[in-house]
Amino acid sequence: MWKDTLRPWVRPLPQWSTVAVAAPQHAVAAYLHADDGVHDVTMDHTVASLKPLVIATSMNAGQRPVIEYCDTVTGKRLGSLRLARMVPLSIGEQASPTLYRVTAGEHHCLGWPRNAWNRWLQNRLMQRQPSSQHALMAPNAVQQLMIAYLCPRPVVLVSVDTPHHRNMFPMDLIGPLSRCGLYSLALRSTNVSAQVMRETGRVALSCIPAAMKPLAYKLSEHHKMPLQRWSDLPLAVRPSRELSIPAVASALCVHELTLLHSQEIGSHIFFLGRVLSDEALAHGEQLHHTPGYYQTYRRRRDMPFAEA
Ligand SMILES: Cc1cc2nc3c(=O)[nH]c(=O)nc-3n(C[C@H](O)[C@H](O)[C@H](O)COP(=O)(O)O)c2cc1C
Repeated sequence: MWKDTLRPWVRPLPQWSTVAVAAPQHAVAAYLHADDGVHDVTMDHTVASLKPLVIATSMNAGQRPVIEYCDTVTGKRLGSLRLARMVPLSIGEQASPTLYRVTAGEHHCLGWPRNAWNRWLQNRLMQRQPSSQHALMAPNAVQQLMIAYLCPRPVVLVSVDTPHHRNMFPMDLIGPLSRCGLYSLALRSTNVSAQVMRETGRVALSCIPAAMKPLAYKLSEHHKMPLQRWSDLPLAVRPSRELSIPAVASALCVHELTLLHSQEIGSHIFFLGRVLSDEALAHGEQLHHTPGYYQTYRRRRDMPFAEA
């Protein structure tokens, strides 16, 4: 019993919770406070790069906008990110997204003093336990990234298929930029399929049920190692609708994208594409990521997300 009381004061909350949520998520809304007013960007902002931490949105929101995340049930402000405008992208489209560097962030999910203490414990753990993400990003930037995940982010498996290169790997730095009708993906420049994606300009995204979490994490090895044969995958595949790219047979839905634009932004290649087809295959809850402290916030109010 006393251990339960002490645990929050000696151990940080997990940075990420893997949760089962029906997509698109409606638990959290994101509002962009811009020069010309407040705009709902729940379906219109994505992460474009981790180092530097950059957010993309269709909105041209002035020099120093703020994104605020609100719980749609409690109405409470969960957190916010302060942004500084970088450049509007020029991709030859009528409406193009704008990039914003994250300059600061805060969240209010735990209350004082646990908020500050948990942040200190998490930062100390990041410095002590190097991982590929911690090697890339300073603890402060990881804290800001967690705030961007207050809108739970769906995980997909991305399929790339050419006669000479085939691959399937998980991504969650993805999503729609609704006002300009585009879909974005941010992929580490070191990913073995990044160059092939630039050349072929087409991918299939399989939205996976939450129960596929262990498989999705196992497939992260394919960020570094392409597949020899599709039959080497530990799951069944079926051809996507228009492009016949092997996609997950048990996916909830499969989107095909034609990629129109790619550019390096720091550590990542930022791809912009259009959805060519959208095939709904099954009902169910998709694997998502959200910060551990937001799941704690929801648990305290008897409304936790189902854990994946
Ligand atoms: C669920 C999940 C989602 C991921 N999403 C992305 C992504 O959106 N973009 C990306 O570049 N890498 C993504 N990765 C890959 C990891 O960030 C990492 O680069 C990859 O697993 C290689 O790890 P390593 O560098 O520790 O070997 C994801 C990995 C997992 C497990």
